[in-house]
Amino acid sequence: MTAQFNIPSTIVTGAGASANLVPQLARLGARRVLLVTDAFMVSSGLAARFQSAMLNAGLHVATFDGVQPDPTDANVREGARRFAEEKCDAIVALGGGSPMDAAKAVAILATNGEPLSRFQGYHRVERAGVPLLVIPTTAGTGSEVTKVAVITDTKCDVKMMMLDRYLLPTVALVDYELTFSMPPTLTAHVGVDTLTHGIEAYVSRKATALTDPLALQCIRLVTEHLETAWREPHNPAAREGMMLAATLGGMAFSNSSVALVHGMSRPIGAVFHVPHGLSNAVLLPAVTRFSLSGALKRYADIARVMRLATSADSDAAAGERLVAGLAALNTRLDVPPLGACPGVERGRFDVVKDKMAADAMASGSPQNNPVVPTPQQIVALYDEAYERFLAD
Ligand SMILES: NC(=O)c1ccc[n+]([C@@H]2O[C@H](COP(=O)([O-])OP(=O)(O)OC[C@H]3O[C@@H](n4cnc5c(N)ncnc54)[C@H](O)[C@@H]3O)[C@@H](O)[C@H]2O)c1
Repeated sequence: MTAQFNIPSTIVTGAGASANLVPQLARLGARRVLLVTDAFMVSSGLAARFQSAMLNAGLHVATFDGVQPDPTDANVREGARRFAEEKCDAIVALGGGSPMDAAKAVAILATNGEPLSRFQGYHRVERAGVPLLVIPTTAGTGSEVTKVAVITDTKCDVKMMMLDRYLLPTVALVDYELTFSMPPTLTAHVGVDTLTHGIEAYVSRKATALTDPLALQCIRLVTEHLETAWREPHNPAAREGMMLAATLGGMAFSNSSVALVHGMSRPIGAVFHVPHGLSNAVLLPAVTRFSLSGALKRYADIARVMRLATSADSDAAAGERLVAGLAALNTRLDVPPLGACPGVERGRFDVVKDKMAADAMASGSPQNNPVVPTPQQIVALYDEAYERFLAD
């Protein structure tokens, strides 16, 4: 069986990597740039820093700062309108996964045209997008290196997953110093998202020899650095470790796949607007326990990398320790059960959980899981995650 591996052609990492913005844009031949970002990046002054650098280099800069968390088709259309109106020839994305994903979709809309929804699924983009340079500020989704964009279809309340190599950024500037400002809650949520990428990439039915080492290194770095970054937001070693983990996790899952956690998490985000990292975190222990039997050796490897088990433990014991360890990590990071997440109300949850299960199955991600669930099993897992998870 063959496997394809795609990542951006240029990835610059390390403290100050984002200062490469202007030279990298010059290499791309960009003259008129659309900066795609969000309101926080503007209010924090970070957007202005990059705007000034580009303006001082003689570039025309237009800004679209209307991306909302979990970006929508309306956000993308507005960005595309600005791109055309300002006659731009390149895009810079600044922010977390939301601005990066919105920018990816704007980049392909600019060359392929509407309708956006036809790109949902796998390998549906006909033409390469315009040059896209991304600067992540969360660690994170790994979107800076993935061929994936997730955009909410506001008509049907579905998070559309698009995967195509034309969604890859051209350049990623991965600068951990931009993550010092993340508050502990955001650090926890996006950090468990990163961990989920590493775990799902490693246990996926589509895991490859190229993605395995990236996934395991992602998990190793999260184990070492997440809780320190959460406690000490300005700890450079911890922030650097988490930033690298996010980028490695992105490379891994984008070329392997995500699985059941992400499949079930997207409908929670689409319906209840629970932040993406949090909706993964609340599902991870229950889904891991459900999936253990399909890839016991691989889950045991993860438990050992996370120092939850040793080589003296049987794979079965290591798997059980992994489930308990993931639940304990959520507790230490103050991750609430699904039922205690803001906006998730029991009555509505009971009405929509069948649709959420159907949408999860339709996304294709559960089919990559070590154990492929039925829709009824997905509903049972939603119910389990709703309450505080009990490891035994
Ligand atoms: N394309 C991919 O490969 C991929 C992978 C995983 C998730 N996603 C998508 O990414 C989105 C989530 O992205 P995210 O978790 O990075 O969050 P986000 O981009 O939605 O940002 C969340 C909040 O954090 C703020 N923020 C960002 N950087 C900050 C910083 N340095 N300091 C303080 N606040 C900061 C933002 O302004 C926003 O208010 C979801 O839509 C999810 O579906 C995409």
